[in-house]
Amino acid sequence: MASLEHEEVIVRAGPRSGLPVIVAIHSTHLGQAVGGCRIWRYPDWRDGLEDALRLSAGMTAKLAVCGLANGGGKTVVAVPESATLSAERRAGALRDVGEVVTSLSGRYATGPDVGTAPADMAIIGELTGHVFCKPPALGGSGDSSPHTATGVVAALRAACSRTYGSADFGGRLFAVSGLGSVGGHIARQLAAAGASLVVSDIDTEKKDLAKELGASWADPGEILTAEADVLIPAALGGVLARDLVPRLRCAAIVGPANNQLAEPCVADLLHEHGIIWVPDYVASAGGVIYALSVELRHQTHASALARVQAIEQTVTQILHASQQTGRTPAHAAQELVRHRLRTPFPRRLLNG
Ligand code: PHE
Repeated sequence: MASLEHEEVIVRAGPRSGLPVIVAIHSTHLGQAVGGCRIWRYPDWRDGLEDALRLSAGMTAKLAVCGLANGGGKTVVAVPESATLSAERRAGALRDVGEVVTSLSGRYATGPDVGTAPADMAIIGELTGHVFCKPPALGGSGDSSPHTATGVVAALRAACSRTYGSADFGGRLFAVSGLGSVGGHIARQLAAAGASLVVSDIDTEKKDLAKELGASWADPGEILTAEADVLIPAALGGVLARDLVPRLRCAAIVGPANNQLAEPCVADLLHEHGIIWVPDYVASAGGVIYALSVELRHQTHASALARVQAIEQTVTQILHASQQTGRTPAHAAQELVRHRLRTPFPRRLLNG
């Protein structure tokens, strides 16, 4: 039997929505647990629970690796696959989330995630102050996806420096899987920096964006194995499976999708194939770094952005350690997380 790694897990039938509301607090060791609220369809609510458990542990790693004085948590509203979710029931689910969050008295704060946006944070915010990324008009820092994208691009600079000796994107080819809010911003930033792009999305309406950016379009089934310098997984998790690795035609994989590995051993396999994989929890930290810097630590836009850009140094450090030890970047990143969780930083330093 696996032991319980989490501090607290709440599963409640939302009194307004009737939907399973799951809040997993993985760790408050470094400070208040933070993690977004995911509204997603699952065949069984237990799949949503499993997602919340994995994603909240990922948040602990994400926040620790970036040197933030926060722990990891996550909220999942598990919508049955057969259910139709009216706007009213959805708003009820968000208020159900707000009620659970407020009952935790600040041990956990939520934010946006897959399936939720700043307007939803405003509804959660009717019941709790512990919610990030409300619309700016309501005093929040708004949409976090451009900042998540900026962080991924910073991670890409580090990966390109390591692989090609230069962080210049001019003439490099990037394959972007998923042009949602984060993937779309990444593609725009890369195109603006002179990169070539091959892109894909399950939504064919995204072909317009591809055209606008001068990117070539690939079918969703082909993008992961497209020939490119760097592959950017920006859709859902679990895409890097064992049998995919020998078919990959990229030198590095760096993207924001959470939990990209279908199983942990894929990190070793990628390493054996000479493909650099930057752990998703490092590459995707920009959104949460920005929101916490501005809303919790009251930093200016410029210093919050600088903090997001510092992902480049974190990734450089991880890739350097990986090269020195011959171990995977995933291992080097875990070492950094372990080190941060072990070392009691003065809070003041971390908050600065
Ligand atoms: N979805 C974000 C992530 O996975 C979580 C988040 C963003 C939480 C912004 C708070 C603020 O990192």
